[in-house]
Amino acid sequence: MTAPPEQIPTPRLLLRRLHQSDVDEVHQAVTAALPHLRPWMPWAEAEYTRETATTWLTFVHQSWQSHTAYSYAITHKNHLIGATALERRIGPGGLEIGYWLHPDQVGTGYATEAAAALVQAAFSLPDIEFVQIWHDLANVRSGAVPKRLGFAEVARHEPPREPLSPGEVGVDVVWQLDRPVG
Ligand SMILES: CC(C)(COP(=O)(O)OP(=O)(O)OC[C@H]1O[C@@H](n2cnc3c(N)ncnc32)[C@H](O)[C@@H]1OP(=O)(O)O)[C@@H](O)C(=O)NCCC(=O)NCCS
Repeated sequence: MTAPPEQIPTPRLLLRRLHQSDVDEVHQAVTAALPHLRPWMPWAEAEYTRETATTWLTFVHQSWQSHTAYSYAITHKNHLIGATALERRIGPGGLEIGYWLHPDQVGTGYATEAAAALVQAAFSLPDIEFVQIWHDLANVRSGAVPKRLGFAEVARHEPPREPLSPGEVGVDVVWQLDRPVG
């Protein structure tokens, strides 16, 4: 199985594969972002210690090795400002994109720019035919990303596939972009 590139430059950002050496930056960024992540991300409910970051980065490494997920730091001028991933969790031929940004970086188009780059990376893999983005119906900012990139809404699931986070209403909205023909 082929993995996407470990470094993906975009017009303003560099997406780079996460490594254990990122532990302090991840710990710092997530800790600062927790109140902003908590409404939407189940893992953000608990306290986020340095040990949590270490455990997560071990999981990230194993997932890359097993080709179940490819996780990247979103960096701007060498600073980690968020994270994004391509995950094999939606069946054969598909990759799902996820993302979060530090609250200071919201409203600048970085999430859309990162997702656009991951779409290209996904379709550079020979076995990938479609890319999806899933979000809760109440997470309007998240839904605006696939909309901007020309994804089509293809499904809504109720109940949702994961336990509810505090800001969610319990409806998963699924957006999809198919591999361009030709
Ligand atoms: C989801 C999340 C990453 C979206 O962040 P975002 O900043 O709204 O998305 P973008 O970075 O693409 O920025 C879009 C905004 O920048 C503006 N923008 C500025 N320059 C832009 C550019 N070059 N390209 C696109 N948009 C641009 C857009 O008009 C839009 O503005 P608006 O806020 O007035 O609508 C962010 O809200 C977040 O981290 N949420 C918490 C975690 C989360 O919910 N993750 C998803 C779980 S499903």
